[in-house]
Amino acid sequence: MTEKDFIPSKSIELIEKGKVAYKSPSNIALVKYWGKKEGQIPANPSISFTLSACATTTKISFKKLDSPTQQYSFDFFFEGNPKPSFRPKIETFFKRIEAYIPYLKGYHFIMETSNSFPHSSGIASSASGMSALALCLMEIERMHIPEMDPDFFVKKASFLARLGSGSACRSIEGPLVVWGGQEEIPDSTDLYGIRYNFEVHPVFKNFHDTILLVDKGQKQVSSTVGHDLVKGHPFSEQRFKQAHRNLSLLKPILRTGNLKEFIKVVESEALTLHAIMMTGDPYFVLMKPNTLEIIHRIWAFREASGSHVCFTLDAGANVHVLYPENEKEQVHQFIVNELVAYCENQQYICDRIGLGAIRLKV
Ligand code: DP6
Repeated sequence: MTEKDFIPSKSIELIEKGKVAYKSPSNIALVKYWGKKEGQIPANPSISFTLSACATTTKISFKKLDSPTQQYSFDFFFEGNPKPSFRPKIETFFKRIEAYIPYLKGYHFIMETSNSFPHSSGIASSASGMSALALCLMEIERMHIPEMDPDFFVKKASFLARLGSGSACRSIEGPLVVWGGQEEIPDSTDLYGIRYNFEVHPVFKNFHDTILLVDKGQKQVSSTVGHDLVKGHPFSEQRFKQAHRNLSLLKPILRTGNLKEFIKVVESEALTLHAIMMTGDPYFVLMKPNTLEIIHRIWAFREASGSHVCFTLDAGANVHVLYPENEKEQVHQFIVNELVAYCENQQYICDRIGLGAIRLKV
């Protein structure tokens, strides 16, 4: 498929009004997307676990305008209150998707959104937020085109979500999603995320992700700025090759359930993401002393106990602690006893692998 396949081929008659709602989760990348080209095209392929507990719920009510507007017409509420600071984000998103959504200037939209996780938790909400919004917009499109192929619906929702925030395209489905063309994964594409369709060992089906909130502050570097710094980075070409390689390595690992090798790839990816930030121009250190403390404690615990707990990071100081279902008691005890002390206000979120977004009744 190409971008053109997402441009509607015929004009549609706008219905008067309606309501749609979706709940869409966050995701955590195992092989990281870091670096992009014009048009939200990733510099390398990535793969993620879809999460379950960390999610955004978005409801959109829409009403036909008497005449189409030049500006986008919408109200945006976050957790019940108007949120003017979100408007520019939505406007940028709308501009990017306008060619693909025929009705965007024909309606007034009331968008109401809320997160399941605490607002200033340092957890990025762009993946869950943009995927929920994209799904709502697709549902409106489907109300106009009821015969729409369900497979097309999912692909286009992911395609639109990507234009809002790259990683959001991996939140539509679960439990594992690949985004970005990779030679060994048929149908993988830079345009949208696809469900990882190879055999997956049962050990990965109930994986846990406990998110340790080390620093709940505002992000020091926005993803947009971070992605930009990869352009011209001295190590970028090698990094992009490595991401392809790591995705290839994960294939047999995911099939056989080889957790030792899984840990090596996942932790190396996390540290590489931060290494790229630390060696850019300008350079950043997004880990905090407590991030490192937690990493060392995870390593020591693993060594002493033989557990298969490991960590990954996103572009911040928080630590995602990953572990299989059959170790949940042991690891949870370890987290409570040894790691929670390094979290801001001792806060952490218990999440696990999930199956993707769900449509809500309105
Ligand atoms: C470190 O998807 O937030 O979480 O496309 O600019 O919105 P934009 O970036 P974003 O980048 C996420 C980067 C990451 C790694 C990942 O999720 O793959």
